[in-house]
Amino acid sequence: MKNMRTQIGIVGAGPAGLVLSHLLHLEGIESVVIENRSRQYVEERVRAGVLEQGTVDMMVETGVGERLKREGLVHYGVNLRFSRRTHHINFAELAGGQGITIYAQHEVIKDLSNARLAAGGQIFYEVEDVSVDNFEPHSSSKPSIRFRKDGEPYELTSDFIAGCDGFHGICRPSIPSGVLEVFERVYPFAWLGILAEAPPSSEELIYAYHERGFALLSMRSPTISRLYIQCSPEEDILNWPDARIWEELHRRLATDDGWKLTEGPVTQKGITPMRSFVIEPMQYGKMFLAGDAAHIVPPTGAKGLNLAVADVRVLARAFSEFYKSGRTHLLEEYSRTCLRRVWKVQRFSWWMTSMLHLFEGDNAFDQRRQLAELDYVTGSRAASQSLAENYVGLPMDWGS
Ligand code: APR
Ligand code: PHB
Repeated sequence: MKNMRTQIGIVGAGPAGLVLSHLLHLEGIESVVIENRSRQYVEERVRAGVLEQGTVDMMVETGVGERLKREGLVHYGVNLRFSRRTHHINFAELAGGQGITIYAQHEVIKDLSNARLAAGGQIFYEVEDVSVDNFEPHSSSKPSIRFRKDGEPYELTSDFIAGCDGFHGICRPSIPSGVLEVFERVYPFAWLGILAEAPPSSEELIYAYHERGFALLSMRSPTISRLYIQCSPEEDILNWPDARIWEELHRRLATDDGWKLTEGPVTQKGITPMRSFVIEPMQYGKMFLAGDAAHIVPPTGAKGLNLAVADVRVLARAFSEFYKSGRTHLLEEYSRTCLRRVWKVQRFSWWMTSMLHLFEGDNAFDQRRQLAELDYVTGSRAASQSLAENYVGLPMDWGS
């Protein structure tokens, strides 16, 4: 058995794990990240791509924002489309000049892993049989993470463990049953998403409500479009040849003002189920959960990555306070501080989802109500401002 020792043992090299490791390094705190996938896999995995202003500022301020500043597409608004008309929500005017930046999650991952490795950070990729021990409140030994790498067993002991291993990770299920309370809603639909080699047909995102179901036009670059349509969660992607997807996108995004959807070769497609999920608390003893390990939002509103980053910013501060002064106050407050934001972001993501999707079993009343809501949101300054301030990202609450 190879034994290693660090201050913070981090499970998962997604956005939560890598941002945490990076922020800790800047505070002079040592960490080791272990990840069960390969470096190439995590750096190519297609995920969302909208960064809140606060996420962008954090990356720039901590020295990992160079490429993001160069290649990211800054938007100062989004469009809501319904009844064949497009309505612009202007963030520049409604959200104090803040914007969002389109930059794929896997590009964020590349920038962070490059920075970590260049600074001598340790990331173990392709590990197997990961387990976590001795993090319980009254454990007399140090927390440990056991795993295998190239067939060899390792034990990493640390002062604390950060469970950043996503929704399907092992950290959350390692907490004894009865400790965590689960809050969950599973939606009766999914998103079918494509990447297409086609210049985006709109400068800014279009969220479309349509009687055939929701559609979203997004992008990755001036030459790559990212598009989604609402579909059934049981849908088989094999039933969706490219031509059928384009036909459905044309129908759901159609307008009366001559707007055209540009098609192009589809380079990737997949179906994502939708759920809202939160566990409370986000800490047990010396185990701190962050990001998708602790909560999932439906993708309407693009909050998953940003919420993961917000968690680890709070966590890095709390660890920093602990190592500087020995005080545990911020660590004790970690879960409470994060959950205040988590629930507001859950509310926003649920609200966007409810307003824009077709719910099976809904009747004509519900559809009229959704249209009235869209009409209100786009017509009232107060309502569009509420959307705008949530979309660009609520201010950080650092706890007290
Ligand atoms: N051991 C080590 N690593 C693991 C294990 C395990 N047992 N299980 C999962 N992992 C890794 C996954 O391979 C993944 O790279 O943990 C990482 C978790 O990363 P994400 O799922 O990206 O979660 P998170 O960092 O919290 O970021 C949340 O990512 O999933 C998107 O939409 C989501 O944007 C949100 C963001
Ligand atoms: C994306 O570009 O992948 C995207 C954009 C907006 C969302 C969700 C996903 O709400």
